[in-house]
Amino acid sequence: MKIVLGVTGASGSIYAVEFLRRCANEELYLVVSRWGRSVLHQETGLAVESLSTFAKKVFSNDDMNAPLASGSNAFDALLILPCSVTTMAKIAHGIGDSLLTRCAEVALKERRRLILCVRETPWSAVDFENAHKLTLAGAVVMPVSPAFYQKPTSLPDLVGSFVDKIRSVLGLPVESGWRSSELE
Ligand SMILES: Cc1cc2nc3c(=O)[nH]c(=O)nc-3n(C[C@H](O)[C@H](O)[C@H](O)COP(=O)(O)O)c2cc1C
Repeated sequence: MKIVLGVTGASGSIYAVEFLRRCANEELYLVVSRWGRSVLHQETGLAVESLSTFAKKVFSNDDMNAPLASGSNAFDALLILPCSVTTMAKIAHGIGDSLLTRCAEVALKERRRLILCVRETPWSAVDFENAHKLTLAGAVVMPVSPAFYQKPTSLPDLVGSFVDKIRSVLGLPVESGWRSSELE
C-alpha cells in the first residue's frame, strides 16, 4: 500500500516511529512539519533523518513542488500521526499552505483515504466542529486513544496496540483482534 505519513507537532511522535517500524513492507512517504521535527526530537531523541531508512522518500513540508502535492500522483492513504488541532483546523478549512495540508486537500478532493490521529485534550467547540466537518468530508478522525482491554504491560505494548488499530483501519493485516480465537 502507498501511504503518506504526516507527522505534526502534537505530542505522541512515538506512535509515528512505531507505525514506520510495523509498516516496513508498505511504500511509505514521510512528511514532517517544523514542530513535528521539534516534538519528535524532544519526545524520542530522534531526528527525522534517522527515520528515512523506514521510508521510500522523505519530503520537506515546505516543498510544494513535491510530486505528492499533485492529484495526478496517486497514493492510497494519507495518515497524519500524531495530528495537531492546528493541522486539523487548516485541513477542515481548505488551507493547503504546506505539503502536508496540500496532500490532505488532495486526498479529500480525490476521495482518497485520509486518517487524522488527533492528539489534544480537552477539545474546544472549534476542534469538535473541525472534526465533524472533516468526517462529513470523508476523513477518518481517530483520536490517539490506546485501549487497555488487551492488558498492555509496557509502553511499547500500549503504543503497538494503537498502531495495530490504525493498521486495521487502513485495511492492513494485524496479528489478532480482541478475543479473536473465540471466532474459530
Ligand atoms: C512539546 C510540545 C507538545 C505539543 N503537543 C501538542 C498536542 O498534543 N496537540 C496539539 O494539537 N498541539 C500540540 N503542540 C502545539 C503544536 O506543536 C503547535 O500548535 C504547532 O503550531 C502545530 O503545527 P503543525 O500542525 O504544523 O505541526 C505541542 C507543542 C510542543 C512544543
